[in-house]
Amino acid sequence: MEAALNLLTQIHLLVLLGCSLLLPRPTTSATAGNHTAPMPLSSCLPDQASSLLRLKRSFVTTNYSTVAFRSWRAGTDCCRWAGVRCSSNSDDGGGRVTSLDLSDQGLESGGLDPAIFHLSSLERLNLAYNDFNGSQLPSSGFERLANLTHLNLSTSSFSGQVPASGIGGLTSLVSLDLST
Ligand SMILES: *[C@@H]1O[C@H](CO)[C@@H](O)[C@H](O)[C@H]1NC(C)=O
Ligand SMILES: *[C@@H]1O[C@H](CO)[C@@H](O)[C@H](O)[C@H]1NC(C)=O
Ligand SMILES: *[C@@H]1O[C@H](CO)[C@@H](O)[C@H](O)[C@H]1NC(C)=O
Ligand SMILES: *[C@@H]1O[C@H](CO)[C@@H](O)[C@H](O)[C@H]1NC(C)=O
Ligand SMILES: *[C@@H]1O[C@H](CO)[C@@H](O)[C@H](O)[C@H]1NC(C)=O
Repeated sequence: MEAALNLLTQIHLLVLLGCSLLLPRPTTSATAGNHTAPMPLSSCLPDQASSLLRLKRSFVTTNYSTVAFRSWRAGTDCCRWAGVRCSSNSDDGGGRVTSLDLSDQGLESGGLDPAIFHLSSLERLNLAYNDFNGSQLPSSGFERLANLTHLNLSTSSFSGQVPASGIGGLTSLVSLDLST
């Protein structure tokens, strides 16, 4: 009986907590007398764009890469490029690349360019189904992607060993696909 009551109290607490999370948060963006549209979600930080452009240049130019990187043009907002997602203004000021998905684009490369390790806010990286030409994964660099939760290098023609000091040090990782 007592246990049942305790359980009820706990459920009640959870419900209360749940409700308080649903309460509207004080808004910080509304400025008196200024009815301009809200700020865009986020726009790309220059260092993120230059790292992405360096990565783009590391792929062999083919018809496939031309299609995959059509939207990747210098001077445009990299947060809107195909396969790229950024953090939002409410997270960290915004404009940092959190997700990069270049999977299954038929891309060819002589090896993974270390420029990718400058994208230190990456949470999801998917390079599956491309051709890295039997190259080795960089022995260090992955450890800089401390927030990486999903890494997918399936079927991408890497060879050699999995870098223990890099990928082994990724403490946020919840999914690692190195199949095929
Ligand atoms: C309204 O806010 C925008 C963005 O913060 C700013 O650029 C603009 O000057 C403001 N306009 C007025 C009338 O305050
Ligand atoms: C690549 O694209 C060009 C121009 O669209 C075309 O002429 C050529 O046949 C394509 N090459 C391949 C291998 O598809
Ligand atoms: C792929 O590897 C072969 C053999 O090592 C090499 O000759 C070729 O240049 C490489 N291709 C690229 C795009 O790096
Ligand atoms: C990693 O995630 C944490 C928690 O969301 C965040 O505060 C931090 O800024 C992120 N680090 C980078 C380099 O984006
Ligand atoms: C890795 O990416 C490929 C291609 O997008 C997908 O089919 C596969 O399910 C992914 N692996 C995981 C574990 O999500």
